[in-house]
Amino acid sequence: MLDIDWTTEEPAVTAGQLLVVPLRSGHDPEAITQRFGAAVRDAVARVPFAGKPGESFAFTRERDGVIQHVTLMGADALTEPASLRQLAHDAAREAQRVGASQLVLDLHGADGLPAEGDDALRVGNLVAQGVQLGTYVYDRFLSESNRRPSSLRSVTAWGRSAAPTEGSNRGRIVADAIARARDLGNGPPALVTPSYLAQVAADMVAALAAEGHDVKLTVLDADECKARGMGCFLGVGQGSDEPPKFIHLAYSPKGESKARVALIGKGVTFDSGGYSLKPTDGMLDMKLDMCGAAAVIGSFEGAVRLGVPYELHALVAAAENLVSGKAYKLGDVLTASNGKTVEINNTDAEGRLTMADAMVYASKLEPALMIDFATLTGACIIALGPRIAGVMTNDQALHDDWMAAAARSGEDMWRLPLPSNLKEQLKSKVADMRNTGERWGGALTAGLFLSEFTEGIRWMHIDIAGPAMASKAYGVTTPGASGVPVATILELLSGPIQLEQS
Ligand code: BES
Ligand code: MN
Ligand code: ZN
Repeated sequence: MLDIDWTTEEPAVTAGQLLVVPLRSGHDPEAITQRFGAAVRDAVARVPFAGKPGESFAFTRERDGVIQHVTLMGADALTEPASLRQLAHDAAREAQRVGASQLVLDLHGADGLPAEGDDALRVGNLVAQGVQLGTYVYDRFLSESNRRPSSLRSVTAWGRSAAPTEGSNRGRIVADAIARARDLGNGPPALVTPSYLAQVAADMVAALAAEGHDVKLTVLDADECKARGMGCFLGVGQGSDEPPKFIHLAYSPKGESKARVALIGKGVTFDSGGYSLKPTDGMLDMKLDMCGAAAVIGSFEGAVRLGVPYELHALVAAAENLVSGKAYKLGDVLTASNGKTVEINNTDAEGRLTMADAMVYASKLEPALMIDFATLTGACIIALGPRIAGVMTNDQALHDDWMAAAARSGEDMWRLPLPSNLKEQLKSKVADMRNTGERWGGALTAGLFLSEFTEGIRWMHIDIAGPAMASKAYGVTTPGASGVPVATILELLSGPIQLEQS
């Protein structure tokens, strides 16, 4: 566990310390002279080092008989949440690169960085998130000789006030929740099965209850789901030897609940495509198809520890989409728990089927709003690229609150429409609807399909097919599962939410 605190005094130099000093484009070289001497200034000028993000200049110096590592780091305006978190992240990475055990992050010169009140808490939160995410690795399956445990033990942020320290506790909770989601997403599909997700939920609830929180877990097996008429969910899972699990995590806040909120995550623990089989390339990353589930399970843990003022329900219809003699077929007609029948014209459009029953279940809890998170369509990646999540809703207020939370968390989202005229693509001759439309606009018809299962509850759909996993490192994301959009979910639940539809 990283120690993170804030101080207004220049921290004493210790052995194994890295000092990181952020510099912006257009910085005054004479400031470097004053602090580190003309030789450093001249060396910086030769690099050249303009102060752009991604640029850095590292050197060591002897002070009081110990060697201190110093890195000048290019940074954007630190008043931007994403930039501040990025700097903290990069500083932590740098500390590990040089084998430092203590990081001193010099923010006392940062212009416009709030030092007091809620804004200071926000600053503490972002810095803690950044440094902690900077130490994230998934090394569970590496042998000892290939593991590189982090050298970093403590972080001292040197600012104009120590007030942000309090915010770092929140940032640590958020980073833990993101790490939880990443670990689940990074786990191989033979490990992360529906039963495993249920077990993780059980262990989590036990730990949270021991901390004194009012939490509860219900797991429904296939028979119980059948009794509830969840034919779409069960249809997807029936080809696998792994039993499907319906996971329901619930939390009541200590004080009065402002509203009931349901979060639904797609939990297809492996998506082969079923009989609409994916080619190898398309199947390669399909352990990621439970990243929506990972996000809501991670967010649940974070939200409880943050003590958010909402009654929270995290719901996952977990199953594997495989081929076998028992698997569902093209042409099958499945019946969802709200009675709607669905003709299957593509077994690879399985996510919406599992989500349909999960949404109907959620609606029966009569939440004030429900939000679903799903690695739902390749089409969403075509539309928005690999780093931006698609946001679909007809609820303007919910959209606005979500986008404001995303701006605060620094995660990228973009709204896509739900054009009702495309609904005709989902018409079937033998059932109430079919599960896929035409190729173009596939993210939208998937959203329109889900919109048939809202049962009148305020609803928003987030397609995270792109940002759930990263093929290479960017921002605060390591290759593999990103934990997106846990930070935004926790931001939303920590801020004011409009409780009337508009
Ligand atoms: N899990 C996939 C979507 C996906 C693709 C997520 C790539 C992440 C990366 C989903 O179940 C799927 O297969 N969707 C199909 C829908 C199509 C059959 C209408 C798709 O996107 O091709
Ligand atoms: Mn699929
Ligand atoms: Zn899928």
